[in-house]
Parts: sequence; structure tokens; C-alpha cells
Amino acid sequence: MRGLPEPEALAPGRRWEAQIPADRRKRLGQWLTPWWAVEAVTAEALTGLGPRPVILDPACGDGRWLLAAGALRPDAILMGWDIDADALNAAAEVGARAGLTLQLSRRDALQGEERGVADVILGNPPYVRPQNLPAADRARIWARYRSATDKADLYAPFMERMVELSRGRLAVVVADTWLSMVSFAALRDLLFAEPIDLLARLPAGSFGARVGTVALVIHPAGRARRGALSPEGLVVHGPLTRAEGVVTLGETPALTLDGDGHLGDRWRLRMGVVCGDYARWVHPGPPEPGDQPTIRGRDVARFVIHDRGERLRYDPAAILQRTPYAAPKHAGLFDVPEKVVLSGASGAVLRAAVDTARRFPLDSCYVSEGAGDPWALCGLLNSASVNAWYGARFTGARVKAVELHGLPWPAGDLRALAEAARASDQAGVDAEAARAYGL
Ligand SMILES: C[S@@+](CC[C@H](N)C(=O)[O-])C[C@H]1O[C@@H](n2cnc3c(N)ncnc32)[C@H](O)[C@@H]1O
Repeated sequence: MRGLPEPEALAPGRRWEAQIPADRRKRLGQWLTPWWAVEAVTAEALTGLGPRPVILDPACGDGRWLLAAGALRPDAILMGWDIDADALNAAAEVGARAGLTLQLSRRDALQGEERGVADVILGNPPYVRPQNLPAADRARIWARYRSATDKADLYAPFMERMVELSRGRLAVVVADTWLSMVSFAALRDLLFAEPIDLLARLPAGSFGARVGTVALVIHPAGRARRGALSPEGLVVHGPLTRAEGVVTLGETPALTLDGDGHLGDRWRLRMGVVCGDYARWVHPGPPEPGDQPTIRGRDVARFVIHDRGERLRYDPAAILQRTPYAAPKHAGLFDVPEKVVLSGASGAVLRAAVDTARRFPLDSCYVSEGAGDPWALCGLLNSASVNAWYGARFTGARVKAVELHGLPWPAGDLRALAEAARASDQAGVDAEAARAYGL
């Protein structure tokens, strides 16, 4: 898929990319978009556009989006901004090779208050985690942009800025974390207030990394289409839906579950301890005062926990002081006789077990608090019905509490389901969950 040939004019871009120092790539979020995606998304954005359109990529890198736009609309005014002079040199060379006139400026797109600078904004925003930003930049950006909240990535305020700069059309390829993570709730609200024409998932590995990516097109047509985009083209799966604040992007779900309310009405699912610096806080050695038994997502199998004997130096104040992104949580969440710990290899496979050893699980695990028998919840989460429901909707690499909160809760008595889960009886759990949902 990544082997598809790029136009020869982009060769200076790939040369530039090959020599980007690792620290600069991390600080400026420099990743080039696959050409097939640039071409397809640009074509979606430009349909029905009037004469002499102004088109801007405010993080243009080697100028590939401008190249695609210029090929489709030779009459366009093509503008590219980037904070990095080397990127702009590459873009200038790309433009010259392609015979295009590009108006290139070195600037920080996040600075400035102008609105509606271009008819169309194209591109792929920079990815920088807030802890990798200089403190002064972070403070300024987090004060200026309403989408810059919690642990949101820099791409959130950048997308907000892209909306400001546009006169109604925006087309980007972007990481998919904004669709479901709590830190991106403000960005979701902001983007869903715009006329979304298309939201399409790109194949896993499109960027050679494990990040999920989507194409988003905001366009006056506002057709709210949901689909999948690959080198073979765009497949539209149906209308875009948003339930419980979370966007569903899979193919039309094969299974709908009828329920009496949702899991999130009865149980609170949360992340376990986030400590940031595992080498410092987690150790396999003999217990020391204050230590708590811990497990990671990989230790959770269906119905069983494989305890590797690791311990967490549980000192919430010290953990928090070390990095502001830590979340040690309060001990009362974990130090309970029974709780459900949940993990997943991918969105399509859920694994849940009941913990009776008062463990303090680490990040990717989820801990539940709520009313009812935790074994019934454990059985449901491991059941074929719930896995089919979840896997059809969410394909992210990590299981997210916000996604599971929307799971329909079956009506009626779940005692037989809980008993099957206690016995680690997968077939029994599958049969009881199907019965509970009336399947
Ligand atoms: C993900 S790359 C995208 C490059 C190119 N548009 C593409 O899609 O292949 C993000 C680009 O944003 C630039 N960048 C980072 N911070 C920026 C800022 N504050 N203002 C403008 N450009 C920035 C980087 O130098 C990089 O070229």
C-alpha cells in the first residue's frame, strides 16, 4: 500500500524527510501523508468550488497537498505555511518541479487571529504531545484554544486553527484519537458543529506506525458520510452517527443489541494508574513499604489474570509531582474485595477478569465500580455477543471506557451468566449473554 508511486516532483520532499533529525521530527510532528490519501481527500474537498479559489495548507511540509490541489485546479492560488525553513525549501523545490507557483511563508500557524484566510484549508496537522512542547508554548496555546484541554495533542488546537482559517472547507488526514478520547471532547464538539461531508478510516499502518488515521472533509454539501479510504478508493458505509459523544466508523454493525439502558448507567469504567515513568515506579523485586501489587493490560486474559509479581511504588503525591500527566487515582478505587479488570489486544477483542487480590492495575486496564455482581459484568465483556458489537464499532488499538459506556445493558436476570463466568465457561457465557440480549 505504501509502495504506490508518488509523482516524481515529490522527490525533494522524501529527501527532506529522510534527513529530519529525530528530535525535530518529534518536536514539530513531521510525518508526510501518503500520496494516494492526499489526492483522494483533496478531490473530495475541491468539488463544486468556484473560480480562482484560494487554497492553504498551514502546515505544508513538502507541499504535497498543494501539488494535488494545483493539479486539479490550475487556476487556484496556492499558499503554504510551515514553521520549518527546511520544509519550505523542499516545498519550493516540489513546486518548481511541478511548474506550480506556490506562495510559501515561514510562520507559526497557531499564532495570529485572522479568520477566513482561504476558501479551502488542506493538510495534516502536526502531532506533538503536550509534554514535548516547550512550557511557554504550551501555556500560550492552552490559554488561546478551547480544544486544548487535558492531555489533548497539539493537533487539536491546530485543527481548531484550521477551522478558523477556512471559509467553509477543510480537508485533513489526521490521527483518530479525537473521535473517542476524553481529552478531545472539546475538539469533537467544535468539529461536529461544522458541516461534515465525510469521515473515513484509513487502513491500519498507512503511516507505517501503529496510529489509526482518518480523513475528515468539512464542505458546504455536509452529507455526513462515513466510510473507508484506501489506495483502492473510497467506500461509503452509510451516515455518520454519534452516540454518547463517541463517533462510530466501522461498517454497518452486524449486530445490534437491545438493552435496558447502558453499561455506563450502572458501572463506572476508568483507567488504572498512569505513572508515566514505569522504570521508576514499577518493579519485580521484594515488597517495600507502600508497595501495591500491580498488573498490566497484557496480564489480563479472559476470566484470568496472569500475575507476574510486579509491584507499584504507590506514592500518589510523588507520582504526580514527577509528571503532570500522571494519574495515580485514589487507593479506594483499587483496594476493594472484587473488581473487573479489562483490557484488549485490539478493539475487536475484549478480555475481562475479576480481580480479588486488590491489585492496582496500570493504565490500559479498566477498573469498574458499580452496582451488581462483577462476575456478570465480566461474563458480558467476554461474551461473543458483546465482542461482536464492540468490534464492529471500534477498531482502535486500545479499549476505551467511553466506548464501552454505550454498551446496551441486557434486561432481566444475569445470575446464570455470572455463574458461567465464575466457572470460566466461555460457551456458557456466550449462550447466557445471547439469551440475555434476546438473540
Ligand atoms: C504532519 S506534517 C504534515 C506535512 C504535510 N502537510 C503532509 O501532509 O505530508 C506537519 C507539518 O507541520 C509543521 N509544523 C509544526 N508546527 C507548526 C506550526 N506551529 N505552524 C506551522 N507549521 C507547523 C511541521 O514542520 C510539518 O511540516
